[in-house]
Amino acid sequence: MSKSTGQKNKTQVQWSSPSNIALVKYWGKHGQQLPRNASVSFTLSHAKTTTRITMEDMEGVAYPAVDFTFEGRQQPLFAQRTVKFINGLTDVCFPFLKGKKLTIDTQNTFPHSSGIASSASGMSALSLCLCDLEMQCNGTTIYDAAFYRKASLIARLGSGSAARSVFPGMSVWGYHKDISGSSDDYGISVADDVAPVFKNFHDDILIISDKTKSVSSTAGHQLMDNNPFAQVRYEQAEKNLTQLMIALKTGDLEILGKITEDEALTLHALMMCSNPSYILMEPASLEVINKIRKFRQKTGIPVYFTLDAGPNVHVLYPHEYVAEVKKFIREDLSQHCVNNHIVEDQVGDGPQKLV
Ligand code: PMV
Repeated sequence: MSKSTGQKNKTQVQWSSPSNIALVKYWGKHGQQLPRNASVSFTLSHAKTTTRITMEDMEGVAYPAVDFTFEGRQQPLFAQRTVKFINGLTDVCFPFLKGKKLTIDTQNTFPHSSGIASSASGMSALSLCLCDLEMQCNGTTIYDAAFYRKASLIARLGSGSAARSVFPGMSVWGYHKDISGSSDDYGISVADDVAPVFKNFHDDILIISDKTKSVSSTAGHQLMDNNPFAQVRYEQAEKNLTQLMIALKTGDLEILGKITEDEALTLHALMMCSNPSYILMEPASLEVINKIRKFRQKTGIPVYFTLDAGPNVHVLYPHEYVAEVKKFIREDLSQHCVNNHIVEDQVGDGPQKLV
């Protein structure tokens, strides 16, 4: 339901969209943001971006005039990225944006400096708003599978991992021979293919560092072009995804944990053997990883870790162990976090249309 704000030429939409955490990672791309291998992720619940766009007519502008604020303030870097993204879409995907003024305000539920990548939630929220505005201009409001597919495709052009954020629960992005409907162009939902234990799986994010990443993911993906292990990696990712999809379906926590941890360490190993090379973990990341493995061995509780392209550690575990694992995190792991900062999250229901 979009709000018509009195004047006929003014349309407002607002969406919230969550971040996601990949279990099989996307690392390496080609062409127009196409992945070298398919990936799968949990859609999160609390870590999300809310974006509102007010669109009105404006004479004499070939590209949309964008007035962008982040949490009510000017944010030149985010603004630049947003304008570049929207201008890139205007000619081919969204000609309706010509001659419009867009007032965009966006906010995150997690602090900007928390070290949590905001591109997946940010780009997916923005894409959902743009696709919604397009529908409003066409006089339709049908939020069906085709709408979400297009939003995923547009989100992918902004940030690859954002393609997976527009679906609830769990999603795959990238063509995979064993996954029906999968495509390099957009993500698909695989929420129906997972055992109940994964529907409310937990992901507590330990903020080991809140500094800006030493290498952007764009530069990181590019380094894969000359990485000597790239081809082997893409083949490994394909096999891992086949096995992981089976584990997700059967509820096999051990296989899920093994593949998830291997994937995280492989991502970091790839960065360590790129040229130039990067070490993206901090000593505290390793301490936390070792403690998680020891805790799992000692207690038999299926708690696992994964990492993005940075030092923060995602602690993954089933809902039934929430009391034991949160106690472990509080007593043994939080001391390794910046100001004991932990973002507690879990698998969520996907984006929401607010206006
Ligand atoms: O979406 P990008 O370009 O920021 O790349 C994200 C890559 C990883 O987060 C490291 C892995 C993934 O699949 O999300």
